[in-house]
Amino acid sequence: MTHLIREDIKDDLLSRGYSRRQMFRTAMMFAGGAAALSVNTEMAFAADDDAATGIVRVGLNECWAGPMAPGLAAGTAALANANRYSPNGEVEKLTKTISTLENVPVDHIATYPGSGGILSRTIVAYCSPTKGMVMADPSYDNPTRAAKFINAPVAMVPLTSDYRHDVKAMLAANPNAGMYYVVNPNNPTGTMTPMAEIEWLVDNKPAGAVVLIDEAYIHWTTEFPNNTATHLVRAGKEVIIARTFSKIFGMAGARVGYLMAQPDVLKRVALFEGDRPTIPTAACANASLTATALIDARRKELIENRAMTVDYLTKRGLKVIGPSHGNMVMVDWKIKTAKEMGEIYKARGVQIASPRWPSWPTVGRISIGSKAEMEAFCSATGKILT
Ligand SMILES: Cc1ncc(COP(=O)(O)O)c(C=O)c1O
Repeated sequence: MTHLIREDIKDDLLSRGYSRRQMFRTAMMFAGGAAALSVNTEMAFAADDDAATGIVRVGLNECWAGPMAPGLAAGTAALANANRYSPNGEVEKLTKTISTLENVPVDHIATYPGSGGILSRTIVAYCSPTKGMVMADPSYDNPTRAAKFINAPVAMVPLTSDYRHDVKAMLAANPNAGMYYVVNPNNPTGTMTPMAEIEWLVDNKPAGAVVLIDEAYIHWTTEFPNNTATHLVRAGKEVIIARTFSKIFGMAGARVGYLMAQPDVLKRVALFEGDRPTIPTAACANASLTATALIDARRKELIENRAMTVDYLTKRGLKVIGPSHGNMVMVDWKIKTAKEMGEIYKARGVQIASPRWPSWPTVGRISIGSKAEMEAFCSATGKILT
């Protein structure tokens, strides 16, 4: 199986403390033997949720609406030409559009089928049994599975009392880590870590380590594009910015994501060649990126629905973690665990997030859906709390 790994990557893995056996496991991880690891956590939960049809689905941080109209039209047209491997250079066009919008050179961008798998690849590229991974707690737990798979130590550092990544404590937790993972806005809290603190981490991390800044939810924020970390890529820093079309663009099931980083970092993370988004999804993503009015309208709708939900929960005397800038909020149920509350909501036809954050056992995550979905959620909450 290790013949599937490029020779230069093999040397790199061995020089970073991988044994031949671990290299074999790593090859398996991307060659299908453990393909589930490159799937994201929300998706893994969705796979268990076939019975969710007909219920109010506010558990997986999905968008309440599908792809935007220009994206659907472009995707459908591309599908009609899908007898060709690349009828009109769809992936290249997507890369070019990202480059123009983000002001990042084309060779600093790599597109993938979703961003979940990219996180696992970065772990393999930068971590090893002697090079750990550092992340916040609670945060997006997906990369921990890849880290455990390759026996890379994981340090989980509590968020600050106002729910920022505690960057100084993250560095102190492992000053010699291979990767520092920052999710901004964070999942599950939706809270932001100020850019100056992320810059501090980038400037103080050990040489050779990477800071992965996961901006899956950044398009939902009103400050976008003034709050992204793309300037760090332009400045030549050893950072990776991960983005996805699964959130505001409503394409979670279509699978498109991308990375922005230095070309040599992208090469290192690629590990294996040939993993690109499909032609229709690339075309759909490309046309959606420039649908500015539709993006703004979706963001406005989110903000209204989120405010209504937070207001309702607060008036019911519940503690809402925040402020959330993403399409989710966390609520401290206090008297019951998140697991118990998940089951209670399910019995009322509402799917909230499965409990995945053991350090906050009584806190649950609710994704923000359409107005009708949030009204249904609030109505169920009213019945549950009486
Ligand atoms: C913070 C974060 N990063 C990455 C992902 C992965 O998204 P996808 O694999 O759908 O692109 C998710 C999914 O929910 C997420 O919450």
